[in-house]
Amino acid sequence: MGGPKRSMNLRTNPPPIAFIDVAAQRRRLGPAIDAAVARVYSHCQFILGPEVRAFETELAMFCGARHVVTCASGTDALVLALRAMGVGQGDAVLCPSFTFCATAEVAALVGATPVFVDVDEMTFNIDAKGIAGAAAVAKDAGLKPKAIIPVDLFGLPADHGAVRAAAKAENLLVLDDAAQSFGAMYNNCRLGTFGHAAATSFFPAKPLGCYGDGGAVMTDDGGLADTIRSLRVHGHGSNKYDNIRIGLASRLDTIQAAILSEKLKIFPDEMEARDKIARRYSERLGDIVTTPIVPSGSTSVWAQYTIRVANGRRDAVATMLKAEGIPTAIYYPIPLHRQQAYKHYPVGKGGLPVSDRLASEVISLPMHAYLDTATQDRVIDAVRRALKT
Ligand SMILES: Cc1ncc(COP(=O)(O)O)c(C=O)c1O
Repeated sequence: MGGPKRSMNLRTNPPPIAFIDVAAQRRRLGPAIDAAVARVYSHCQFILGPEVRAFETELAMFCGARHVVTCASGTDALVLALRAMGVGQGDAVLCPSFTFCATAEVAALVGATPVFVDVDEMTFNIDAKGIAGAAAVAKDAGLKPKAIIPVDLFGLPADHGAVRAAAKAENLLVLDDAAQSFGAMYNNCRLGTFGHAAATSFFPAKPLGCYGDGGAVMTDDGGLADTIRSLRVHGHGSNKYDNIRIGLASRLDTIQAAILSEKLKIFPDEMEARDKIARRYSERLGDIVTTPIVPSGSTSVWAQYTIRVANGRRDAVATMLKAEGIPTAIYYPIPLHRQQAYKHYPVGKGGLPVSDRLASEVISLPMHAYLDTATQDRVIDAVRRALKT
C-alpha cells in the first residue's frame, strides 16, 4: 500500500457522512457527562435519585410548564398521560397517520381506538380542519371522541391555536406529542405548554437525547402530574406499598437524568446550530426542490430536515446519494392507516390523501448540530446533482 494509491482512493471515495452524529456531541461533552455519571455511581441512588428531580425542575424552567414528570420513554410518557386523563375503552383518540407509530399505538395500548386525521401539506402536521369530520366518524362508529394527539413532526410545532379551537368545539382533551420537537416554539412559547399535557422523548437521536431510553410529561395541571407520578411507580398512594391504582414501572434512570442535565446546558447552543444548518440547506436547495417551511411565530428544532421529491423520483435520488456516501432516511414510507397493525382503525372524512402523498415524496437529509459547512456542502452538491439527472 503506497502513499499515492491511498490518496487516490480518498479522492474517489470520500468518507461516508453521518446522518446524525451522536459521537460529535459526546466529544464535546464527554468529561462533564462522565463526571455527572460518576456522581451517581458514588451515591448509588439509581432509581429516582436526586438527579431525576433536579432535571425535572430544570426542564420545567426551560419550557415553562408548571410540572414535569419524567419516565422511561416517550411512548410511556404518552401512555401515562392518556391513563391519567382517563382515556380508555370506548374512547376515540384522534391523531395523524403520518407520524411514528407510537402516536397511535398508545391509544390502542390504553384500550381506546385511534382515529386518523389527515395532515397539512405545508407543515406535515395535523390539519385542524379535519378534526370535526374525524370526531363525526368516531361517533358514527359508536365511540366517544375523548382526546386528540397532535404531533409536532420533525421538530416543527403543530398549529396549536387551530387544534385548541377545534378540540374545544368537540370537547376533546389535547395531548401534544412533542417527542421530536422539545425546545421548539409556537407563538413564541416553548412546546410543553400547549394542550392539557405534552409528552416528549429522550431517545438518543432526538434533539435532546440521552444515552438510552427516556421521556417526560409536561403539564400545568398539578392533579394530572400527581396521578402520573403515581402511575409511573405501580400506582402508588401515600407510599410504595399503598397501591391505589394499576400503574407501571416507568422511571427515567438517575444516570440518564444526570446525562440530560449536562446536555440541557448546551441545548440552546445546539438548537441555534441546527437552525443555521437548516437555513443554509433551504437557501441552497430551495430553487430546485420543496424545502420545509416554518410558520411565523414558530421555531423548529429540526429533528429532521425533510425535502419533497415528487414524480416517483424520490427513491432514485436516495440511491444516487447513497452511492456518494450520503445517507438519507424516509420518515415515513407507509402512513399508519396503511400498516397491518393499524389499517382497521377509522380514518377521518375524505380519507388521508396528503398523508399518502407525503409518504411517497419525503426524504430527510443529514442533520445534527455538528454538521460542518464543508460536509453540508457535500450533501447539497450531491442533492443538486441527483435532482438534475
Ligand atoms: C412522534 C413520536 N412519538 C412518540 C415517540 C416515542 O418515543 P420513544 O421512542 O422514546 O418511546 C417517538 C419516537 O421516535 C416519536 O417520534
